[in-house]
Amino acid sequence: MTRLFERAVRGEPVERFPVWMMRQAGRYLPGYRAIRAKTPFLELCRTPELAAKVTLEPIELFGMDASIVFADILLTGDAMGCEVTFPETGGPKFLDPIRTPADVDRIHAADDERTRCVAETIAILRRELPESTSLIGFSAAPFTLCAYMIEGGSSRDYLITRRFAHAHPAAFERLMGLVADALIPYLREQFEAGADVLQLFDTWGAVLEPELHRRWVIPMTRRVIDGLGADRPPVIYFGGLGGEGRLRSGVETGADALSVDWQTDLARAYATVGDQVRLQGNLDPAILLTDPKRIRARTHEMLARVPAGKAHLVNLGHGIHKDTPTENAAAFIEAAQSFVPTQEAGADARA
Ligand code: CP3
Repeated sequence: MTRLFERAVRGEPVERFPVWMMRQAGRYLPGYRAIRAKTPFLELCRTPELAAKVTLEPIELFGMDASIVFADILLTGDAMGCEVTFPETGGPKFLDPIRTPADVDRIHAADDERTRCVAETIAILRRELPESTSLIGFSAAPFTLCAYMIEGGSSRDYLITRRFAHAHPAAFERLMGLVADALIPYLREQFEAGADVLQLFDTWGAVLEPELHRRWVIPMTRRVIDGLGADRPPVIYFGGLGGEGRLRSGVETGADALSVDWQTDLARAYATVGDQVRLQGNLDPAILLTDPKRIRARTHEMLARVPAGKAHLVNLGHGIHKDTPTENAAAFIEAAQSFVPTQEAGADARA
């Protein structure tokens, strides 16, 4: 039996829409907070039994249709020679960011000893998850990992990264290529360990101007997806915040589905991509900070904008906020799973 989530990612007919949430294993959950009170973030990522436990908590509480392995996109940068830390406040930091073309020489193929923990967590999860729950493996997309390695951490505008791309195009392209080539075996290893679907996060993919986006962000993502080989599992690409205008180019990555943020109108997004890819998203995570009644209503309103016959992947437009009450998360999952999609072709898409 193929699982509901995997049928939907492949665009096969579904009786209802599957749902999961980005950052579903995280600080809004009491069990996660209890474990984190005793365990530093990186140690948690690198201890497969604990990482698996944290991954399972939301599935046990809410019964989502897909589970995403607990890890972080920055682990691969660390394994490539750019050491990362996760201080308790202020967000992750690369200790010695890439600031000059010569710094790119320090970057090497990922040391798989340092990332193997993720495949090990996946192997445990595939045994412990309910048979009907799909398991998602993930990595950054090349641009977003490069942006963190250059910037050194989170940033409002990624000015240092944008300057680097303009000032040192050859070094930037070399770094992007090294990162893309490191992500391929990392994702392949997750697939072989039991991941059913892979998601590539390009959270900052939309910050570059269109010309540079076309030149690097899309082709380097495509290089990763193509590099996974003909037998690869379905791939979902999250092309970044504020990326509504980038849906057409997202199709060119070769991904099976595009994950869209809340600033994108779903009916318009479907009109743009047609039958070329599936779509995932896109409720504003801020709605989950309101109340269950409003969450149910807004989730059903959003899903009513999905054209008839489409197999939509229900999700938030970005990660769940850490202050979300658990009953509100439950209301979102329940609303998504109780929604009855319109089946007749040609029904009003309400564009
Ligand atoms: O549940 C899941 O989604 C799986 C695990 C997961 C985490 N990070 C755990 C995490 C996933 C898929 C990610 C992806 C990730 N990590 C992204 C892409 C998605 C996005 O949010 O845009 C990015 C940009 C990162 C880098 C990162 N990791 C940042 C910027 C931060 C700090 C910001 C924050 O939200 O605190 C992290 C830390 C992090 N990664 C946490 C979690 C649960 C919080 C750490 C904690 O417990 O203190």
